[in-house]
Amino acid sequence: MWGYLLFAAFLLAVGWLLRDRQKIRDVRDKYVFITGCDTGFGNLLAKRLDRQGFRVLAGCLTQQGANTLQRADSTKLKAVLLDVTDSSSIKKTADWVRAEVGEKGLWGLVNNAGRAIPIGPTEWMTMEDYFKVLNVNLIGLMEVTLTFLPLVKKARGRVVNVASVMGRMSFAGGGYCLSKCGVESFSDSLRRDMHYFGVRVCIIEPGFFKTAVTNLEGIENDLQRLWDRLSPEVRQSYGQKYFEKYVKVQRFSMNAICDGDLSKVTDCMEHALTARHPRTRYAAGWDAKLFWIPLSYMPTILSDFMLALLLPRPSQSVC
Ligand SMILES: NC(=O)c1ccc[n+]([C@@H]2O[C@H](COP(=O)([O-])OP(=O)(O)OC[C@H]3O[C@@H](n4cnc5c(N)ncnc54)[C@H](OP(=O)(O)O)[C@@H]3O)[C@@H](O)[C@H]2O)c1
Repeated sequence: MWGYLLFAAFLLAVGWLLRDRQKIRDVRDKYVFITGCDTGFGNLLAKRLDRQGFRVLAGCLTQQGANTLQRADSTKLKAVLLDVTDSSSIKKTADWVRAEVGEKGLWGLVNNAGRAIPIGPTEWMTMEDYFKVLNVNLIGLMEVTLTFLPLVKKARGRVVNVASVMGRMSFAGGGYCLSKCGVESFSDSLRRDMHYFGVRVCIIEPGFFKTAVTNLEGIENDLQRLWDRLSPEVRQSYGQKYFEKYVKVQRFSMNAICDGDLSKVTDCMEHALTARHPRTRYAAGWDAKLFWIPLSYMPTILSDFMLALLLPRPSQSVC
């Protein structure tokens, strides 16, 4: 009995693996548009897809980023300026992409642009802090998707949204975890609605990787700014030691957990764009697979306890 079950499980696993490895045919006539290509995952993905023969259209926030990317790679790759928080910039870029792709439509839209700070305890945040992050990571992603969707529909293509394991587990206050949770939710409804039109929607859930988003100096300076602007009463309720330990935890997370191999994330993005049967969700990085995602399935009391072990306790804590 157990032998048959094991054999059936083995056959299923082999079947799944073979299905997962099937690739789409010729990529040379396929256009992919990626946001946030100045640095990090977006930059690496643009270069790698270009090498594979895709027609890459790379959205960059800065002229310097666009120039460097265009110079570094083949004449096929084209870079364009895009600020995902600016509706007129999105519209202008969409018009340019429409003219580039013509009747072929857009095979891939990779919503990668993002920012993380301000990040810290919820009570230290203002609404403006939330908007700074939400406007890029969530509202910007939604507006780009809605604007480009007709082009993706035309190609029966793929939308690849970069979320995070922090979209499942709120490790810290601020707009980041909130925005990534929103990306998950937006992608889920989009996937179900677009399925009928042959458009596939994939979510990438990276763990912690060494990029500008996880730049320790930027995070520490921003935490200092948040701390300095607190009222004396709130600051006293946390205490200087809390602040110092909080910074230490961030330092530890960034130094000990952050993975330098960005290709673990771009491999997932590439699979989403090139597999005949792309997956719905991709977990990238050992910390995502072995820690964050399993933790997100645990009872809240357990995950809260685990996170409480990592984070410091305020000086005026009553428990
Ligand atoms: N690194 C990680 O550990 C990690 C983990 C999970 C998820 N992610 C997500 O992965 C994505 C890529 O981040 P990354 O780690 O590769 O960091 P990154 O190097 O900072 O890449 C983010 C890119 O987005 C651009 N950007 C920022 N604001 C923008 C705006 N308003 N409009 C258009 N582009 C904008 C940045 O441009 P500038 O460089 O010019 O500012 C940068 O090129 C983000 O969505 C991030 O949240 C990262």
